Amino acid sequence: MNAGKRQNETRIDRLNAEKRLPHEELTALLATWDAADREYAAEIARELAVARFGRNVFVRGIVEFSNVCRNDCLYCGIRKSNLKVERYRLGEAEIVECCDAGYLYGFRTFVLQSGEDATYPPERLAALVRTLKAKHPDCAVTLSVGELERADYQLLFDAGADRYLLRHETADPEHYARLHMPGQSWTRRMQCLRDLKEIGFQTGCGFMVGSPYQTPETLAKDMEFISEFRPAMIGIGPFIPHCDTPFASEPAGSVDLTLFLLSLCRILRPDVLLPATTALGTLDPVGREKGILAGANVIMPNLSPAQVRAKYMLYNNKTAVDVETHITKSDLQERLRKIGYSVKVARGDYGETPC
Ligand code: 5AD
Repeated sequence: MNAGKRQNETRIDRLNAEKRLPHEELTALLATWDAADREYAAEIARELAVARFGRNVFVRGIVEFSNVCRNDCLYCGIRKSNLKVERYRLGEAEIVECCDAGYLYGFRTFVLQSGEDATYPPERLAALVRTLKAKHPDCAVTLSVGELERADYQLLFDAGADRYLLRHETADPEHYARLHMPGQSWTRRMQCLRDLKEIGFQTGCGFMVGSPYQTPETLAKDMEFISEFRPAMIGIGPFIPHCDTPFASEPAGSVDLTLFLLSLCRILRPDVLLPATTALGTLDPVGREKGILAGANVIMPNLSPAQVRAKYMLYNNKTAVDVETHITKSDLQERLRKIGYSVKVARGDYGETPC
């Protein structure tokens, strides 16, 4: 064992004990980690997740209901400048149908995700949320539709939406500016996150691993933001280039660094809801399993209709977990069983009594 490794183990232990690390220590950990450090962190993270949730994985059925987007994020395949995308939007009846099918399969959380599509104004979304909550009162509804005015977030919350996902993308304002177009404001995005949390949503932030211009320093800021913001959920996946974006020739993020960050997030926030993301599953066929073993506890199978899947390509080769039977009898359940875990049929709210 070399001295560097012992030092990083000490840093990971300190993060676990104190739930924080001085900025320089955190940056050094993120700059010098190796496979042994990653394993070490994964073991601690896994134990924390099992102590809190058991060997259970929460599932959320995601419906990607529109790929129309007014934004032009440099990394994203459905950015508005990408004229090659065939745009689609599902109607309310179709969305409800997807969720109804999901309900029969055992899903108790529905995630409605889209680009920032003005044809789905907040009033229309609120009506949809009310319909879903009336039909499935035992289910949680999560929204992931981007930046809105605070009053609109309030409207959606009052309509019954329980959770909201809005990745902060990077906690460093200069890095944010290099990933987005001039009209897109880091300050506004952070304000949206604060609004969501204050309104009462179980709020999720998150970031891509290996996005262009990311450094150990910006990652340290992401971790520090997470400590301070105390999100209910954290979405972390590797950056994957999309051929029709300005970042087409940038390298993809690393699966191993993603796993290490998942573990550090679990250590930092033992009760957080932490998905093993689609992007992780896209870069590695067993990426999701690796994510669970690194401390993740959520998987988000896709409930979108087959004919629109290929059009919601945030990045190339985007995969999906499919569930076509009751979740407890699904391929996903079988895959989880092989690593000693199983699917939990429950809403899986943040902060509820441990399993
Ligand atoms: N690679 C990985 N993740 C991406 N996202 C968008 N584009 C990409 C990409 N090329 C992520 C962003 C966004 C979420 C919905 O998908 O972090 O917030």
